[in-house]
Amino acid sequence: MRIGILGSGIVAAAIGSRLVENGHEVMLGSRSEKNGKGVDWAGQHKINSYYGTFGKAAAFGELLWNCTAGAHSLDCIQNAGIENFSGKVLIDVANPLDFSGGMPPRLTVCNTTSLGEEIQQLLPDAHVVKALNTINVELMCNPTMVEGNDHIALICGDEGRSKERVSQLLLNEFGWKAETIVDLGGIVHSRSMEMLIPFLISIALKNGTYLNGIKIVSLLHAYGSM
Ligand SMILES: NC(=O)c1ccc[n+]([C@@H]2O[C@H](COP(=O)([O-])OP(=O)(O)OC[C@H]3O[C@@H](n4cnc5c(N)ncnc54)[C@H](OP(=O)(O)O)[C@@H]3O)[C@@H](O)[C@H]2O)c1
Repeated sequence: MRIGILGSGIVAAAIGSRLVENGHEVMLGSRSEKNGKGVDWAGQHKINSYYGTFGKAAAFGELLWNCTAGAHSLDCIQNAGIENFSGKVLIDVANPLDFSGGMPPRLTVCNTTSLGEEIQQLLPDAHVVKALNTINVELMCNPTMVEGNDHIALICGDEGRSKERVSQLLLNEFGWKAETIVDLGGIVHSRSMEMLIPFLISIALKNGTYLNGIKIVSLLHAYGSM
């Protein structure tokens, strides 16, 4: 499959590399076609790896990823050309973070909206699925690095078939287990997925590592169901 990834950072490179290794054709996109990180990434792989502008990557991919800095993702997507997303699934990994006030970062949007929702509003003809934004880049394609591999990957989005496609990708290509992929519902749940990030960064600062995961403990027996 042809896959377009908006972004040239460590997340785009990690996801892109795994997808190339799995036999897909992948193009990373940037503001500039001469972005050194994109050129280097494409050069690391013998075949099926390309780089270009955001627009070229979005036009190239049958399946698209948003791996840009969340505070600028809407600009990056506009830059890529809204028409290039039409009818496609866009997996949104980005977090709308502002580190200018120190740690933990501030969310640039939250409470009444979220980046995932704003991207879906910007792209009404695309199917946005929020996924992997709560997972450290080293674990995204290697969930078994965490002992027991029972930490969860949250996803959400408005279209069931698109979420099923993303779940299958996480399962078959990235090594996640079906029972640890937790579908929260519609894209509105991007809010809580993004609001987890300052919390996860506080945990990372406390533990001295970003390699932490989330598990859900159900207290059903004690309190009954909703
Ligand atoms: N690092 C992690 O473990 C992790 C985990 C989960 C989610 N995420 C999220 O994944 C996304 C990518 O993270 P990353 O660390 O790989 O990359 P990043 O440094 O957050 O973002 C790099 C991308 O954002 C674009 N960008 C940066 N500043 C911009 C600006 N002012 N205007 C327009 N575009 C701009 C860059 O464009 P150019 O290519 O043109 O330079 C580049 O493609 C982020 O939203 C992050 O929050 C990260």
